[in-house]
Amino acid sequence: MNSFMKWVGGKYLLRHRILEEFPQTVDSYVEVFGGAAWVLFARQKNSSMEVYNDINHDLVNLFRCVKYHAEELQKELQWCLISREEFMKAKEELHSPYLTDIQRAARFFMVARCSFGAKMETFNGKRVSLGNVVKDLGMFSERLRATVIEQLDFEKLIPLYDAKGTLFYADPPYFDAEGYYTGDFGREDHLRLKASLEKAEGKFILTYNDCPYIRNLYGDYRVIPLERQNNMTSCSTKRCYKEIIIKNF
Ligand SMILES: C[S@@+](CC[C@H](N)C(=O)[O-])C[C@H]1O[C@@H](n2cnc3c(N)ncnc32)[C@H](O)[C@@H]1O
Repeated sequence: MNSFMKWVGGKYLLRHRILEEFPQTVDSYVEVFGGAAWVLFARQKNSSMEVYNDINHDLVNLFRCVKYHAEELQKELQWCLISREEFMKAKEELHSPYLTDIQRAARFFMVARCSFGAKMETFNGKRVSLGNVVKDLGMFSERLRATVIEQLDFEKLIPLYDAKGTLFYADPPYFDAEGYYTGDFGREDHLRLKASLEKAEGKFILTYNDCPYIRNLYGDYRVIPLERQNNMTSCSTKRCYKEIIIKNF
């Protein structure tokens, strides 16, 4: 199934290609940098345990509300108007500490869905409708029924779930794209990630933008080049963006 939202760096276009690299079965599947979870939603559940993790509190709150309070979230969203004014208001209200989790999840969802490239900045909602997604929230709640939702830094998460039968899928913020996501992810973090994955007993699949620094960092591993159309360009211009898959098996 598809995800219910867009997200910066979301693997919408590459999800099927990434899944081709997955082993047939695993004991536990852990999505380390969950985002909109395009790969998690696209995969056939074939593990006894599944984990969605992201450091972003608003994302994790939205996933928890979809999982545990789908009907209440549906009610909160059903009268939501899509306009520049409502977008600006919802964006402003996300700073308030007085929202309930469900109110916060609804505003966050609306702003992500109606912003250009899901960057939570400028309004791009002229042709967006929330109708179908809101109607289907029950289906997403059911899909997440047995999924553990975590909000941890990857360095804490990886050892927590590490075992021989675990598959980690890690899709960190791109290298050299600091400031693109909320919370910067700098060179130190890329090095911390390498150290955490290197220590893992389980299998890992990692996706990155294709650049010499990352190729060099993971020089001892299998690197598979990929191309996708740039999400931000129109079909007519067809500019391609190079990414890589890195595996330890
Ligand atoms: C490229 S996006 C993941 C996109 C996801 N694969 C999808 O299909 O939507 C990277 C995610 O990593 C999260 N993140 C950033 N720093 C993190 C950290 N230290 N630990 C865990 N997650 C982090 C960001 O909040 C962001 O959602």
